[in-house]
Amino acid sequence: MLVTGAAGFIGSNFVHYLVANTDVIVTVLDKFTYAGNAASLAGLPENRVTVVRGDICDAELVDQLVRANDVVVHYAAESHNDNSLHDPRPFLDTNIIGTYTLLEAVRRYEKRLHHISTDEVYGDLELDDPNRFTEHTPYNPSSPYSSTKAGSDLLVRAWVRSFDLQATISNCSNNYGPRQHVEKFIPRQITNILTGERPKLYGEGLNVRDWIHADDHSSAVLRIIEAGRLGETYLIGADGEKNNKDVLELILTSMGQPADAYDHVVDRPGHDLRYAIDSTKLREELGWQPAFPDFERGLTATIDWYRENEAWWRPQKAETEAKYREQGQ
Ligand code: NAD
Ligand code: DAU
Repeated sequence: MLVTGAAGFIGSNFVHYLVANTDVIVTVLDKFTYAGNAASLAGLPENRVTVVRGDICDAELVDQLVRANDVVVHYAAESHNDNSLHDPRPFLDTNIIGTYTLLEAVRRYEKRLHHISTDEVYGDLELDDPNRFTEHTPYNPSSPYSSTKAGSDLLVRAWVRSFDLQATISNCSNNYGPRQHVEKFIPRQITNILTGERPKLYGEGLNVRDWIHADDHSSAVLRIIEAGRLGETYLIGADGEKNNKDVLELILTSMGQPADAYDHVVDRPGHDLRYAIDSTKLREELGWQPAFPDFERGLTATIDWYRENEAWWRPQKAETEAKYREQGQ
């Protein structure tokens, strides 16, 4: 299996999951941007995992690697909304041109592709909307990040329809767990507390995200690769809706701090209000279920992971906070 972007958060968790639960032989292709971390792949058996440093926009390299593998699982992306608001260009290069480059190689060698995407392609919901996102919700992305992910999904769909590409797509909600970059909400707040800084909440913190443990994302992706119908899209979610203020208060109290020991900072422009996934299709058609339905327990384990792995996150922390400070966040 060729796994792109596996030095990042979710891709690295997927490779750990594959090594623990299957006998698949993995090649990782990762550019090691600021978000890629070699330590996230440390300790994996050399006879199971080979790491190639390279860009998914490099057509020659992609051609060689796709030809040599049976299945391509495509995680590589520029993934952070805030970054996309300040410098959108790398999002266009990696998320659009990179995906296009992979699609052409997969088409040439008639391989199987699974494309990893996000619930953000559907835009956002009102807080009191009784509906959640389904596979039929129209695309309506808000940020440069989510619009490039939407574009990449549409490219995959077009290659399926026009060239009979053997592909599936999944759109997942917000992941949490070990090895997530400290720029993201949950690890940022945990590591702020660990370094004596106050956590930072955008606006009033009423925005809702639908949290899923990264291992549950991995088990769902594996299930889709094994049994998903070609050409189909599957939404992945674990019924984990919570607003940011509640999540932050839970982090603070779990770490022995007063629940109000945080700062309100300037809100994200165009900030999506609520995401919520209806994963009925995945559950009923493929029999998938989350193994981590209890968010509080998963969050406590995640806090413990950051406590115990300071060497993993410490090198990213100062630079990340300096960038946020410049943005007033
Ligand atoms: P991440 O930013 O932690 O990791 C991205 C990885 O891609 C990094 O290792 C980076 O070095 C690599 N990369 C970036 N540009 C590359 C390029 N041009 N060539 C090769 N490698 C490149 O991201 P993540 O949070 O792990 O997200 C992974 C995927 O999952 C993305 O496609 C994202 O859209 C999707 N997703 C993320 C979430 C979430 O909650 N984080 C939820 C749903 C879907
Ligand atoms: O929904 C899936 C998406 O989830 C993925 O496609 C993205 O790759 C991933 O980054 C994530 O996007 P979000 O924008 O929802 O995640 P982020 O961790 O940046 O922010 C989560 C929420 O927390 C969001 O409402 C903004 C808020 N926030 C974020 C930061 C970094 C804060 O209140 N304070 C912060 O310091």
